Amino acid sequence: MTARVSLLLVGAGLAALAAIYCYFYWKNEACNGNWISFNRTGLKRDLKQKLYGQHVAAEVVLKAVTGFMRSQNPKKPLVLSLHGWTGTGKNFVSQLIAENIYQKGMTSSFVHLFTATAHFPHEACVSKYKTQLLEWIRGNVSICPRSMFIFDEMDKMHPGLIDSIKPYLDFYDNLNGVSYRQAIFIFLSNAGGESIAQVALDFWKDGKPRPDIHLKDLEMALSLSVFNNKNSGLWHTSLIDKNLVDYFVPFLPLEYKHVVQCGLAEMVSKGRAPDMEVVETMARDLNYFPKEERVFSTQGCKVISSRLDFYI
Ligand SMILES: *[C@@H]1O[C@H](CO)[C@@H](O)[C@H](O)[C@H]1NC(C)=O
Repeated sequence: MTARVSLLLVGAGLAALAAIYCYFYWKNEACNGNWISFNRTGLKRDLKQKLYGQHVAAEVVLKAVTGFMRSQNPKKPLVLSLHGWTGTGKNFVSQLIAENIYQKGMTSSFVHLFTATAHFPHEACVSKYKTQLLEWIRGNVSICPRSMFIFDEMDKMHPGLIDSIKPYLDFYDNLNGVSYRQAIFIFLSNAGGESIAQVALDFWKDGKPRPDIHLKDLEMALSLSVFNNKNSGLWHTSLIDKNLVDYFVPFLPLEYKHVVQCGLAEMVSKGRAPDMEVVETMARDLNYFPKEERVFSTQGCKVISSRLDFYI
């Protein structure tokens, strides 16, 4: 009996030690391969299984991130610009990228999310924001070259602020001793969403299936609307002129069936059994465009989490 008890005690002790070790290990995230390594299989699987209705974006993102992460000596940081209506998955895709590079995903201390209206709300403070932002990026990249910066609501960001980070996105070997070539910048914006939706609508009207929409069909629409539009495209123009953006990633408007998929996944993540009837009722109550045919959801998957609570 004593043998068994002491064995149990040893076991419990070991488990406690392991838990303590794990706690401190997890707390002390470091800028090395234990914490930062690209899982291509994971990203590919996530894009296929968790992202709905975005075959073009999924393909471009996988290609872009894989190419960059495999390169031993990139000539510039990776710069992605994600475009589309709200709720189409732009934030979600940046999260998937983070999760498949950083062990701690979005909670990693090497992943930084800036939201224009939250971090840089006042036009009058632009010069203060500039100094701050430049220092943050510089400081964080010096601590960890493989840092990731996500800028949400890019269309609401002051063009001067964006202009100021341009040197970081460029082909420099280093700036004042800091190299930005391992860093990843992701810009999210609604700019171009209308034109992307128009392409999707045209395909639908012509009876062509959604998977037949290719990047080249959207690129033209994107470049016309985003880059020639003096208001929404001001910041883009300067980034494009210098070819600082490596990939423009278009997000298609979602259809009813994608909203249903989001709803089912959301129920599961809320710890409930997926209930088709509840989700379909919720999905039907959302707004669709055009008004008559109700093809594309205007809010996409954005409102679903809060809406579902109301229907459950
Ligand atoms: C890193 O970025 C964060 C904002 O995400 C900022 O609060 C912090 O001060 C930065 N660190 C350095 C060393 O600049």
